[in-house]
Amino acid sequence: MGQERGHLRAQRGQPGQRHLGRALAEHRRRRAVTCGHPEPVTPRRDPPPLGVALVGAGRWATVHRAALPRAGARLVGVATGSDASRARVAREWDVFATTDMAALLARPEVEAVVIASPNDLHATQACAALEAGKHVLVEKPIAIDVASAERVERAAEQSDRVLAVGLEMRVFTLFERVKALLDEGALGAPVHLALDLFRRPHRAGSGGWKHDPERRGSSVLEEPIHYLDLARWYLGEIASLRAWAVSRPGREALREQLDVRLESERGAVANVTRSVAAGGHAVDVRVVGERAALRATWRGRMDVDPRPAVRLELHDAAGSRLLPITAATGHAHDVWRQTAAFVRSVRKGVEPPATAHDGVRSVELCHAVERSLASGERVTLRQG
Ligand SMILES: NC(=O)c1ccc[n+]([C@@H]2O[C@H](COP(=O)([O-])OP(=O)(O)OC[C@H]3O[C@@H](n4cnc5c(N)ncnc54)[C@H](OP(=O)(O)O)[C@@H]3O)[C@@H](O)[C@H]2O)c1
Repeated sequence: MGQERGHLRAQRGQPGQRHLGRALAEHRRRRAVTCGHPEPVTPRRDPPPLGVALVGAGRWATVHRAALPRAGARLVGVATGSDASRARVAREWDVFATTDMAALLARPEVEAVVIASPNDLHATQACAALEAGKHVLVEKPIAIDVASAERVERAAEQSDRVLAVGLEMRVFTLFERVKALLDEGALGAPVHLALDLFRRPHRAGSGGWKHDPERRGSSVLEEPIHYLDLARWYLGEIASLRAWAVSRPGREALREQLDVRLESERGAVANVTRSVAAGGHAVDVRVVGERAALRATWRGRMDVDPRPAVRLELHDAAGSRLLPITAATGHAHDVWRQTAAFVRSVRKGVEPPATAHDGVRSVELCHAVERSLASGERVTLRQG
């Protein structure tokens, strides 16, 4: 198995490759032939659920916990920050719980960890888990600074384990559909992208860490990171950006209105805008391609609204029409798809929807936004 994973690692270094599953199947077939064993002909059985431990037991870890059974995984342990939440988890979730992450990582039934702790802990915890031989799904941001993000990327490359990043907009069926339409050329080459999030202000988090820049990192890492990542996913590598922020008096630290204008290496332009002045949660996506345009909208009372209003329109020379899309999309419906993709990566060696490299690039984008806000200048990104 170590040899197989080494083989996968060599391929994973090449960006964009998505045929690792085929390579693994071919490798197994060849090995069976060399060893004189024919391919097994017995019917395939589903493997037992992957043993997953949660690091963190707050709001988002609770969402991850609910996603596990549907994704082919089971909860086998939890690490928390305080003894109070350790006791609550042990009682209410009926699972091994500890405040000592090393003790969690020492347990053999823990095959993988989902890290949903405060942002400043992600890099160290992800590296510790990889070193202990566990697969890792780390929530965004992969780290709060670029150097730490690259440290996690290197640790993942040097290990034979999967590292996935929780940039889960990529598995929302609505946003995935936009990507598929772009990839199949339904719009022609993209020229302009507008991504707008209008939402309510963020919670403070356990112990107020989300309001502490030392623990949260840049406020851009909070939620704009998802939309900057979507812009890169849709348009390819970003060449440069310029950012502006405006707040109502007394709320400057919140950067209530954030506007980012990006240019891709292929010359497309994107506007990513975010406001936290709303009472609900609304996302608007508009892509204009050389031949046609798309508009996708998502409206809910909050991010995890189970019954959002969803719409996808195609506009071209023939007029405009609605494209079929399930309304069951968004945080309440799609997080399990990210977990399922992670389990598939562990089982079959395919790339997760967001790799360590995507994690690094997303943190770089956020820090470029910070630099532009500080300098008032356009910032150039390193070539992808
Ligand atoms: N992808 C998304 O859409 C999305 C959405 C929301 C959040 N997130 C991410 O998820 C992470 C958690 O956010 P949240 O909203 O769930 O925050 P939260 O409600 O404040 O939960 C944080 C959890 O981390 C625990 N913790 C603190 N120190 C720890 C340590 N040393 N070891 C293990 N656990 C520790 C806390 O335990 P105590 O309470 O005992 O201290 C708490 O259970 C953040 O990185 C956030 O960016 C992602």
